[in-house]
Amino acid sequence: MSVRLSQLPVELKIAISCFLLAMGYAYLFAQINLQVNTRKADGDATGLATIQDIVVTYHGDRSQTLLGTKINGTMREHLPTEEDKIAIEQWIKNGRTEEEYLEIVQQLMDAYCTNCHPYGDRPEYPLETYEQVYQAAEPDRGPSIGKLAKFTHFHAFGMGVFAFLLSGIFTFTSFSPPFRYFGVVLPFLSIFLDITSWWLTKLVSPVFAYAVYLAGLMTGVSFAVAILGSLYDLWIRTSTAES
Ligand code: HEC
Repeated sequence: MSVRLSQLPVELKIAISCFLLAMGYAYLFAQINLQVNTRKADGDATGLATIQDIVVTYHGDRSQTLLGTKINGTMREHLPTEEDKIAIEQWIKNGRTEEEYLEIVQQLMDAYCTNCHPYGDRPEYPLETYEQVYQAAEPDRGPSIGKLAKFTHFHAFGMGVFAFLLSGIFTFTSFSPPFRYFGVVLPFLSIFLDITSWWLTKLVSPVFAYAVYLAGLMTGVSFAVAILGSLYDLWIRTSTAES
């Protein structure tokens, strides 16, 4: 290729630099989002985002249920005694049978919960029948397939376009060809690894959360290489081209 970034007219250099800086911001805020929001996924909001946060985000925490979490959280005050709470937890632990529900759990729901579920201020979340309460005590399996598919679809589109633009700009730098190939391929590799690992973490095993983590690091490195490398060529490298 004969045209190099260092040879471009200044207006175009400015436009490309602004785009690169905007991409830097996009990545920076993706990181801030991860540290501010995803970090809390496993219930431990201290320190940085961990593998366990990724596991909970995609695979879910299967030892937890919505009902179990709520009767230990915001719904705790509606259960007058500790024994009532333990009785419900025991029912969940014992496999949520209908017999035990009718014998123990139903009267607790009727006494303390159904006046708000569904009739009170939470009409969309009924806890009146065995099926409804059973449903509320399903193990947390993370996002549904539909939700993750939607997230993947948007993410793959967006990341694909960003990666293409960044690698496209990077191809016009004057770095040695092996380094340029590396800079061009890495963003796409990290996207493929990232998305594939979300699904493997959700569907196959939490072990793949490590691959999600690795893909995140790779994305950071690839963005840094493409953005800083291109900025270097635009403004610092003195044009050595023949033209
Ligand atoms: C005074 C009304 C009221 C009572 C009584 C009440 N709840 Fe709730 N419940 C709410 C409201 C409001 C929310 C939504 C806010 C929240 O999740 O904390 C909620 C949320 C929930 C959720 C989560 C629903 C969701 O969609 O995220 C569960 C599960 C739940 N309650 C269980 C119970 C149980 C079990 C009891 C009885 C021990 C109970 N609630 C008693 C008002 C009530």
